[in-house]
Amino acid sequence: MMAAPRCFIVLLFAFVLFSTEVKALSSNYYDQTCPNAEATITKVVKKAMLNDKTVPAALLRMHFHDCFVRGCDGSVLLNSTRNNKAEKDGPPNISLHAFYVIDVVKKQIEDLCPGVVSCADIVALAARDAVALSGGPTWAVPKGRKDGRISKATETRQLPSPTFNMSQLQQNFAQRGLSLDDLVALSGGHTLGFSHCSSFQNRIHKFDKSHNVDPSLQASFAASLLNVCPAHNKVRNAGATMDSTTTLFDNAYYKLLMNGKGLFSSDEALLTNSRTKRLVSKYASSQDEFFKAFASSMIKMSSISGNGQEVRLDCRFVR
Ligand code: HEM
Ligand SMILES: *[C@@H]1O[C@H](CO)[C@@H](O)[C@H](O)[C@H]1NC(C)=O
Ligand SMILES: *[C@@H]1O[C@H](CO)[C@@H](O)[C@H](O)[C@H]1NC(C)=O
Ligand SMILES: *[C@@H]1O[C@H](CO)[C@@H](O)[C@H](O)[C@H]1NC(C)=O
Repeated sequence: MMAAPRCFIVLLFAFVLFSTEVKALSSNYYDQTCPNAEATITKVVKKAMLNDKTVPAALLRMHFHDCFVRGCDGSVLLNSTRNNKAEKDGPPNISLHAFYVIDVVKKQIEDLCPGVVSCADIVALAARDAVALSGGPTWAVPKGRKDGRISKATETRQLPSPTFNMSQLQQNFAQRGLSLDDLVALSGGHTLGFSHCSSFQNRIHKFDKSHNVDPSLQASFAASLLNVCPAHNKVRNAGATMDSTTTLFDNAYYKLLMNGKGLFSSDEALLTNSRTKRLVSKYASSQDEFFKAFASSMIKMSSISGNGQEVRLDCRFVR
C-alpha cells in the first residue's frame, strides 16, 4: 500500500529537481550560441535613447511588469489577439511604451542567431542597459529564460498598486520571493520616468476623512502636484516626473522621499516601517550603497521564474 505513493513522491521530487535544473539561468548562456547578443542590445538601446529620452524608464518598468506577472517570461510583450486581451492592454498599462525598441533588437538578433535568444532575456538585458546608460550601476544578467505563451489583461491586477501600504507591498513582494530589502532597493527604480495624475490622485484629492491632501506631503510639493493635477483635470497625459532628475539614474528618489516629496503612497509607505525607513535613509546618504543593493535586487527580480517553453521569433506573437 505504501510503496506506490512513496515511489510517486520520489518521482515527483526527481521531476522538481530536474525541472529547476533545466530552468537555471546562467551569465554565459549565449556565449556559444549568440556571442554578440548583448552588444547588439546595448547598441540598439543606446541609439533609441538618443532619439527618445523616455526609453530607459519604459524599458525598466517593462521588465518589472514582465517579472511580476507570470514570472519573467516575456508575457508583457505579447499583442492581444481576436480572442485574448493581453497584459499590455490591461488597466495599469498607462505608461508602458517603447515596445518598438524590443522589436528592433529582436529583428537584429534574429538575423545573427535565429531562434536562439528569448524575448524575456532581451527585456532583462535591455532594462540593465537602460539603467547603466542612464548613469546607474551595471550587473551581469543571468540568462536562459524561455518565453511564455499566455498573457492576460486581467492578471495585471497582480501588480502592486501605487496606493498600497507597507503590509500590502510586503505581501506582494514576498509572493515573488522578494524581501523588504528588495522592496526598498527596487523602489529606487522610481528615479527614472514620469507618472500620470491618476497614479497619485489619492494623495491630493479626498485623501482621508480629515484631510484633502496627504499630510505627509511637503506643502510646496503638494501645491505643485495640485497645480498640474487639479480635481477636474482636463489635460490628457498630465502628471509629474518621478523625481527631480528624471533621466538620471541616481539616489535623488530617496533624498526627496525623506523630505516629503515621494510621489506615490507606495513610496511614502517605505517610511512607515523601521527597517525600510533605515534603508531609505542609508540610500539617501550613499549612492554607492543604493547602486550595490539595486543591482543585486534586480538580479533577484529578473530571476523570478515563469513557465515559458519557447523562444519566440517575433516578441509580439507566440510561435
Ligand atoms: C513597489 C511597487 C511599485 C509600484 C506600486 C509602482 C507603481 C508605479 C506607477 C503607478 C507608475 C506610474 C505609471 C503612470 O502613471 O504613468 C510607475 C512608474 C514607474 N515605475 Fe514603478 N512601481 C513599483 C515598483 C517599481 C519597480 C520595482 C520598478 C523597477 C525596478 C519600477 C519602475 C518604474 C519606472 C521606471 C517608472 C516610470 C515609467 C515611465 O516613465 O515610463 N517601479 N510605477
Ligand atoms: C500589436 O499591437 C500594437 C498596438 O496595439 C499595434 O500597433 C501593432 O500593429 C500590433 N503588431 C502587429 C505586428 O500586429
Ligand atoms: C491600456 O488599457 C486600456 C484599458 O484596458 C486600453 O483601452 C488601452 O488601449 C491600453 N493602452 C495601451 C497604450 O495599450
Ligand atoms: C493596509 O491596507 C489593508 C487593505 O486596505 C488594510 O487591511 C490594512 O489594515 C492596512 N495596514 C496598515 C498597517 O495600515
